[in-house]
Amino acid sequence: MAVITVKDKQFETYLSDEMIQSRIRELAAEINRDYAGTKPLFIAILNGSFMFAADLFKNLDIEAEICFIKLASYKGMKSTGKVVTSIGLEEDLFGKDVIIVEDIVDTGKTLHHFLPKLKHQQPRSLKIATLLHKKEATQYPLHPDYTGFEIPNKFVVGYGLDYDGLGRNLKEIYQLV
Ligand code: IMP
Repeated sequence: MAVITVKDKQFETYLSDEMIQSRIRELAAEINRDYAGTKPLFIAILNGSFMFAADLFKNLDIEAEICFIKLASYKGMKSTGKVVTSIGLEEDLFGKDVIIVEDIVDTGKTLHHFLPKLKHQQPRSLKIATLLHKKEATQYPLHPDYTGFEIPNKFVVGYGLDYDGLGRNLKEIYQLV
């Protein structure tokens, strides 16, 4: 098992590139089936979800749109408790089938605060796809519809996820030692 250092902390391999890619292909197959004949809009939440969103989107064979927005509630390894929107949503969601794409649902606070804003625009349907879900850490009533992996309540980096801005470029996902 590889141990790496990101900034000042040690992390060990948790999910390999192959495991991530094969699970994403399964999720995409499910979405292809569930959304056949529709044209869903994927809303990927930056920064963390950029790799997952790209790989998921590449594996879709239905007609689909994607846009990116930015929300942040994390600084370092602890939630700051604030949800900040820094890039707004320009798309009109009325009557659309919307799928939110998240890197990880941790406390659930980010999505819990954000979903009402989306629902307000009256999309036809609204679902959540997250690569990772720290179920034990989730404190808000949030139930992702598509989950890549349920993981323990331990800090992870890689594949888009960062520790203080670093580690996003790693192909694998690593867990704090
Ligand atoms: P939540 O609002 O607590 O669900 O946190 C969601 C956001 O926190 C995610 O989109 C990530 O950006 C960040 N986050 C939560 N857990 C981790 C982690 O283990 N590693 C890196 N970022 C994390």
